[in-house]
Amino acid sequence: THIDWSADAAEKGGYPDFMLKEIYEQPRVVRDTLAGRLAGGALAIDELGLTLEELNLIDRVYVIACGTSYHAGLVAKNLIEGWARIPCEVEAASEFRYRNPIITTSTLVVAVSQSGETADTLAAIRDARIKGAKVFGITNVVGSPVARESDGVIYTKANKEVAVASTKSFIGQVVSLTLLAMLLGQVKGRLSQAQVRLLFRELGDTVQQIQRILDQQRPAIHDAALACKDASSALFVGRGMGAAISYEGALKLKEVSYLHAEAYAAGEMKHGPIALIEPGFPVIAVATKSPTYDKTVSNLKECEARGASLIVVATEGDKDICAIADHVIYVPAVRDAFSPITATVPLQLLAREVALLRGCDVDQPRNLAKSVTVE
Ligand code: AGP
Repeated sequence: THIDWSADAAEKGGYPDFMLKEIYEQPRVVRDTLAGRLAGGALAIDELGLTLEELNLIDRVYVIACGTSYHAGLVAKNLIEGWARIPCEVEAASEFRYRNPIITTSTLVVAVSQSGETADTLAAIRDARIKGAKVFGITNVVGSPVARESDGVIYTKANKEVAVASTKSFIGQVVSLTLLAMLLGQVKGRLSQAQVRLLFRELGDTVQQIQRILDQQRPAIHDAALACKDASSALFVGRGMGAAISYEGALKLKEVSYLHAEAYAAGEMKHGPIALIEPGFPVIAVATKSPTYDKTVSNLKECEARGASLIVVATEGDKDICAIADHVIYVPAVRDAFSPITATVPLQLLAREVALLRGCDVDQPRNLAKSVTVE
């Protein structure tokens, strides 16, 4: 018998491509990123390099990053402002470094970078430190420039990511930023120890919840991919966390399938993008159960009325959504704060399926590099 073996196939561990392998690693990434973080009932992030007193003085946060890492920052803004009530801005590192942001010694800059060597993010770190900010790095690469040049660092425990499109490192970033937001909430006295313990337990539950999506939703995602593979453009919409996830879904689709996609906060549709909708136009919506669920559904009805082909990521048990959606992808019920950890997964798989149907190389999209070390 002939055994077909290559180093490449062995590295893919039985998966057809690295992107799929890395998507399937996400339950492990969440577990490893959380491991050891709750000590004696309180959150412990010793590598931050700041005392609790110093943390307590922080009165402004900037998250600076690029691409997918920037989208993790959009999630963090909601959490940091929600739990710690500290104003938080998210900025593309390439913009931040060339303006004159308001930075004082009580400003915390959180630099998020999978590779830890993105030129714009590094330049922004250097600039922020010169201006007196404290800088935390969130990176996947031990000893990388972002880790070395920050006051403290959280490692995302994704392990090496080979596919150019970030998947598992995004989930590692979101979990790390969630821990940071919880810590800030705890230090500011806005989250009690009991609340932190409850949140931590629910965060741990997302390990099984992601696994359930991977185990059960592939057929629905494949059908949804068939519905958009021949489109020339697609819109991703959601509100709140759903908007942040939509931006990441649109980026993933663009980079691996070359299908043009834009993301919009669903409430903005009527201010312009709805003009794009004609029969069959794909609208991919994140409409999980959240405080703005009803508002999102009414935005989707407006799209449906104009003939959009609606693909909706919804919460398990939501039968009503079937009345307007052409395709429903279900994710387990989680609190809204944790929806990015679960609801992003189907969008990653959707992007990959569409790319494969369009004959694209999902691991090595054209024109892109895994790390962008030049400006
Ligand atoms: C993600 O899928 C992209 N390939 C890209 O946007 C990436 O997230 C960006 O270049 C930032 O990289 P970094 O996290 O290594 O800094």
